[in-house]
Amino acid sequence: MMFVETTATSIKSHRATQPEKPILRIEGGRPLTGIIPISGSKNAALPLMIATLLTADKVTLQHLPRIRDVWVLADILRDLGAVIDWEHATSGLAQLQTSHIKQDKLNHPMMGSMRASFLLAGPLLARLGKVSLPLPGGDAIGLRPVNFHLQGFQQMEATVQINHPYITLEAPRGLKGAMIILPFPSVGATENLMMAACLAHGETTITNAAAEPEIVDLANYLRSMGAIINGAGSSIIHIQGVSSLHGCNHRVMPDRIELGTYACAAVMTDGQLTFPQIDKNILGEGTEAVLTALGVELQQESGCLIARRGQHIDHNRNFITAPFPGFATDMQPMIMALASITAGSTHITETLFENRFQHVVELQKMGASIKINDHTALVRGVSALHGAAVQATDIRAAAALVISALAAKGTTDIHHLEHLDRGYDKMEAKLLSVNARISRKSGVDKD
Ligand code: UD1
Repeated sequence: MMFVETTATSIKSHRATQPEKPILRIEGGRPLTGIIPISGSKNAALPLMIATLLTADKVTLQHLPRIRDVWVLADILRDLGAVIDWEHATSGLAQLQTSHIKQDKLNHPMMGSMRASFLLAGPLLARLGKVSLPLPGGDAIGLRPVNFHLQGFQQMEATVQINHPYITLEAPRGLKGAMIILPFPSVGATENLMMAACLAHGETTITNAAAEPEIVDLANYLRSMGAIINGAGSSIIHIQGVSSLHGCNHRVMPDRIELGTYACAAVMTDGQLTFPQIDKNILGEGTEAVLTALGVELQQESGCLIARRGQHIDHNRNFITAPFPGFATDMQPMIMALASITAGSTHITETLFENRFQHVVELQKMGASIKINDHTALVRGVSALHGAAVQATDIRAAAALVISALAAKGTTDIHHLEHLDRGYDKMEAKLLSVNARISRKSGVDKD
């Protein structure tokens, strides 16, 4: 296989005309030690908030992460008529109620900023019999179409009309239960169809369903709202439609990607981090095996999970991203960061998203030795990374840069923090409390 070196993108020279935006400055080389509480999962919280639209009753959600995607989604829900009572800033608790949905057309300007907003289609179609919403475009990590969602709705006897950029789904006599076979275990399609099927007539079976823990969390929540769902967490999910759902109280599951991020950071900085009330099984076997091969020891002790460097590493590693319980694509950038300072070589193949190597060029600026061939990166461990000015391109790329900076010699400035703020709850405060030197400064973003 031929591996070619990618080169750092040139930085355009119109800084003077750009507005000041915050940057994250990290002085690396300090071992992280202490306790980090893991927040509620972003990828669970978004569908859970959206599923409140399936009932007119009040729903209580606990342990919501305090992140930008949650604030943006709350705004979109409010536009639709939801009343949201937050105790969120301190406790992550919110009460949401949408007694009446004001409109079936979603034209909130932030719809395009978050792909998960397409999950509004299922609940609104089920509750109103009609929904119009913008088709999500591609994003930084790839094209990300929604054809599986649409085919599923059509099988449930909805009509689909595309009037670019809007898509209108209609089922005036209600959705009908169907036998749906997904071409790929898509997380979003499984969630969208599962939510819609809760209020459909008859039984729906989703075969080749995604089995991610966030699907299980959503199914548990829907069940406490009165839905009849079996098989979530396996590849076949059965949903028996009911005529209405009611309110409930639900605690959002912990964020397994946040956990994995900090576990990598513990080892990359030669430190030790403890995560209270966490079971390592949420990582999934594939991701756990990848961490172990890179020398991350995960020890369960009195309900806590402890991450530190272990005795053993594999020297020739070959990792391929896959649906749960495989190696999570969302962990791939952070795993690449860890691999870049772990002795030996690592092949990392990205199978889910076609453009998910944008962090490579930034890690190279910090001294990482990485070559790309198509969807595979070859990472050769170097003894240390060094500080640099780098740019985040998506949430997980941003996290990979943060943990690399924490381990690197010298100072790193990370630009485009909007990506980090979408998905990491109180990251700076958490890292400061475990010995990191990290601060937000005003700066000018780089293109
Ligand atoms: C979710 C996660 C995201 C994670 C991804 C894969 C949320 C909010 N986001 O995204 O963090 O990286 O799962 O674990 O939970 N596909 C199609 N047609 C479709 C749907 C998907 O071709 O209709 C393809 C996608 O392009 C991708 C693959 O299927 O290649 C998996 O995508 P999917 O599981 O749907 O990811 P998301 O739900 O968008």
